[in-house]
This record gives sequence, C-alpha cells and structure tokens, in this order.
Amino acid sequence: MKTIISVVGARPNFMKVAPLHKALQKYGDSIRHVIVHTGQHYDEAMSKVFFDDLELPHPDVYLGVGSGTHAEQTAKIMVGFEKVLQDRKPDLVVVVGDVNSTVAASLVSVKMGIRVAHIEAGLRSFDRSMPEEINRLLTDGIADLLFVTEPSGVRNLEKEGIPREKIFLVGNVMIDSLKHYQAKAASSAIAQQLGVERGKYTLVTLHRPSNVDAVEGLRKIVSMFEAIASRSTIVFPVHPRTRKMLEQHGVGASANAIRNLLLVEPMGYLDFLHLLERAQLVLTDSGGIQEETTYLGVPCLTLRENTERPITCEIGTNELCGLDVEKILRKSFEVFDGKMKKGRVPELWDGNTSDRIAAILNSKI
Ligand code: UD1
Repeated sequence: MKTIISVVGARPNFMKVAPLHKALQKYGDSIRHVIVHTGQHYDEAMSKVFFDDLELPHPDVYLGVGSGTHAEQTAKIMVGFEKVLQDRKPDLVVVVGDVNSTVAASLVSVKMGIRVAHIEAGLRSFDRSMPEEINRLLTDGIADLLFVTEPSGVRNLEKEGIPREKIFLVGNVMIDSLKHYQAKAASSAIAQQLGVERGKYTLVTLHRPSNVDAVEGLRKIVSMFEAIASRSTIVFPVHPRTRKMLEQHGVGASANAIRNLLLVEPMGYLDFLHLLERAQLVLTDSGGIQEETTYLGVPCLTLRENTERPITCEIGTNELCGLDVEKILRKSFEVFDGKMKKGRVPELWDGNTSDRIAAILNSKI
C-alpha cells in the first residue's frame, strides 16, 4: 500500500483536492489518500463549509496554524508538517495552487526526500510583489511532478529549465468540482434569500492586499460600487481580510450606506457557484474565479494589472482592469448594455482532470 498526502490550507485549495480525493478512491486497493489541513484558513465560512459542500472527509490531520505574518504562518506549517511526514512516511505529497501552505509543505517534503506533485503548476503573473507568485516559483522549482492547467504554464516551466518529462498538461481540477456540483448548486436558495434574480446582479469578490490593504484602493472600490449600484444590484461576500481593512480604514460606513450593495458573509461553495453561474457580471481579484467565469461564459472584469491565467483573457470572458475605475465602469456598462465579450472553454477543462492526474500518480508512485 502506498500513501499519498494531499495538503489543503486556504479556501481556494478545497475545491481542487476534493475531485482528486474522489479520483484516487478508484485506486483504493493500492493507494491510501491522507488529507492534511494546515489551518491557514480556519473560520467556519472559509473552511468547514467547503468540506461539507464538497463532501470531503474530515482532514486526517489538522495543524491549526491560523493567521500570522508570512514568516510565522509558513514556519508554523513547516514545523507541523515535518512531524506529519515523520509519522506517516508518505510516498508522495500533493500540493495545490499558490498559497503559503503550498510552498511550506513542498519545502518540507523535498528536504525529507519525499516527492512532490504540484497541481496548478506553471502559472506566472511575472509580478513578484504578489506573495502567490513567489509561492508558485519556489514550489515549481522543487516539485517532481508538475500538473498544468493551460499551455502558458508549460511554456513558463520550460523557460525556467524544468525538464519536459516532469510536466503534464492535464487541465483544470477546479472545473472538475464545478461540473460535478453544478446541478446541486442549482437548487441553492441563496439568490432567493438575497432577493436577486438571474442575470440582474453583479457579483464581487475582493481580497488581494494590493487592492484592499490601502485606504486609497478601498475608496476607489467604494466609488466604483456607487456607480455600478445605480445600474445593477451588487452582491459582495466580504473576505475577512477585506472586512477588517474596511473597518480599520473607516470606509465600512460609506460602503454600508450604498443602496443596492449587499455586503454579506463569505459563502460556501454551492451558494457561491449558484450566484456565479447566474450573475450578469463578475468583478474579482481572485485567481480561480477568472477561470470559473471563463468556463461558465459569464463576463468577468479582473481588478488586477496582470493575471497568471492568461488563457482566461485570450479565449475566455475575462478582461484585466486594474483599479482603473473609469475603465471598470465603462466595461461594466457595456455588459449592462448587452455588449459583452464572448469566450470559449479552454481545452482539457472537461471535468476529467483529476482522473488524468490520479492515473499519472498511480503510474509514478
Ligand atoms: C490566502 C492566499 C491567497 C488566496 C486567499 C483566498 C496566501 C499568501 N494567500 O489569502 O492566495 O487567494 O487565501 O482566500 O496564502 N482570516 C480570517 N479567517 C480565516 C482566514 C483568514 O479572519 O479563516 C483573516 C485574518 O485576519 C488573516 C487574513 O484574513 O490575517 C489573511 O489571511 P491569510 O491566510 O494570511 O491570507 P488571505 O488573504 O486569506
């Protein structure tokens, strides 16, 4: 019996490991799959609800590291995860995405001579001021198997000198979750509860430090909300970091005062998917949501200067706007007037990526 440990830590990890867990069950006679949750995200709304929605088993190990500076958080994960590896002696560790848990677990594993597979490898924003870009570069530099979602990822890794035989263009595991849960999400009552109708609201998510940590950015966001709310109801599930910043900078009250702006708690996977699929427009600075909107054909404006997921702009429905309020409003109003960018679904985003990854893991382990 071989052991594979998959590491999850933050909200965007859960929907990536859930389909892999299901796919690995098919190899249950020869592979034991262990899930380790670092506890980087710990609020019920940021973590537990995803385990329930995605039918993920309780993590076998919970490290409970919580929040802190990057160094504190990364170091705590490393110390905790090293003990897990000493105890469980896995044959391979799977990490996903680009959060602090990803790089911390990778570093510990390779130093202990345990092979690492990175799901969502090769994505590059070429912006080293993003903590995620550093996490991506370091993880890919030391991983043994690199599973890539889009062709740009393969090119980036090759340019960085990663041997071709380590790289596998397999598609997007997050789309596996999306396809699998689309029907279940359809029966969510969230739109009804919020009083919004299909195609008549704008869904917003914002949590990047570059957008929400400084008061200037928050003020721009509030002025953008004021203009958009005159044309479309806004639903904004507020990330804990963003809520804290709104309050800290004294901008929360002006946001609260905007009619047609629904500031709500972070949502579970099924409720959010329900709203995403039915939105008229999505405004986000998330990585994964750029991909989900491309898959769903929903117009997406990304409030960042760059994206590590260029395929969503090249062939999908995504457009980059930075925090250029004039551009965001112009593009938003185009969408409200029915002039939206049409897109296609990238190759291999077909719902079967985790099966392809499981088969490769089974052959390499
Ligand atoms: C992390 C990821 C980011 C990902 C995001 C999704 C890194 C470097 N960043 O950012 O790539 O897009 O998750 O949400 O790994 N907090 C809570 N409750 C929680 C978690 C966080 O209140 O359950 C608050 C804390 O005040 C914390 C802050 O949010 O200090 C930031 O959390 P952290 O995990 O450091 O990064 P995120 O901004 O969530």
